[in-house]
Amino acid sequence: MAINWFPGHMHKARKKIKEAMPDIDLVLEVLDARIPYSSENPLIDELRQNRPCIKILNKSDLADPIITKCWQEHFDQLPDVRALVLTSTQRGQVRKLPDLCRKLVPERTAGIKTIRTMIMGIPNVGKSTIINILAGKNIAKVGNEPAVTKRQQRIDLDNGIVLSDTPGFLWPKISDENSGYRLAISGAIKNTAIEFEDIALFAADYFLTNYPEQLISRYKLKQLPGSDMAMLEEIGRKRGGLRAGGKIDLHKASEVLLHDFRSGALGQISLETPKDIPLADEGNEDSNID
Ligand code: G4P
Repeated sequence: MAINWFPGHMHKARKKIKEAMPDIDLVLEVLDARIPYSSENPLIDELRQNRPCIKILNKSDLADPIITKCWQEHFDQLPDVRALVLTSTQRGQVRKLPDLCRKLVPERTAGIKTIRTMIMGIPNVGKSTIINILAGKNIAKVGNEPAVTKRQQRIDLDNGIVLSDTPGFLWPKISDENSGYRLAISGAIKNTAIEFEDIALFAADYFLTNYPEQLISRYKLKQLPGSDMAMLEEIGRKRGGLRAGGKIDLHKASEVLLHDFRSGALGQISLETPKDIPLADEGNEDSNID
């Protein structure tokens, strides 16, 4: 799957983050809990160096709780990293974040200095939702279509914590084809940039293997279809994707499946586990994209 991540933006982002990093005590990296590996940006671990980092596994309401626990354990054993499982649409959960920030930067808390944090993440992982709750007002635009440009913001949270938004746009790490598919299924890539049927077939194949019960329950199946294509055809038949002459509208069926996954209607599903991290990537968070 060929995706253009705008090399000009990448270079600019790297430069700006590098410039801003010396004034940052703690990095808040927002990840999509359904795809914690594929929703990482390669620059973050490279540029934060030894600064502590909270990896926020956001949208945990949509992810498989058992797999989210595996991810939490995976991140917690990394040096200078703490994982936080979050559903940022629940305000109360987000408000616990400042306490964790203070715990991770104790030397600053002892004095009266502020803790300077930077919130980072690829589009659509929920950064704006988190910023707005922490700030207590709508200062960041929330929306599902991944955006490209925005201004950097610096917000004084009035509780000894300063929150800086990432300067520039961060792209996801597509180190292998599977990551590209998982990002597309999650909604992190604009719908206009993806081949719906191709993505839905990948999703159907994965769900048939890993979440068959959810498919049976959602689409009221008597038995599990034998292939990804048969699964889409079944969805088409059951959910208004039948054209004149009995032909199945695969595009419509694909939309239904992806929508049901993204909205959580299909159940709590994760698209990858720590075991899916490519071996070449273990301990090497850099990427050759830039
Ligand atoms: P971004 O700044 O990182 O690009 O993400 P943003 O906050 O704009 O969130 C992208 C979408 O994800 C929004 O949905 C937002 O409501 C949703 N979202 C954020 N956090 C969570 C979460 O913990 N759980 C779930 N289920 N969804 C979450 P939207 O439909 O585009 O916007 P809206 O209809 O909510 O306004």
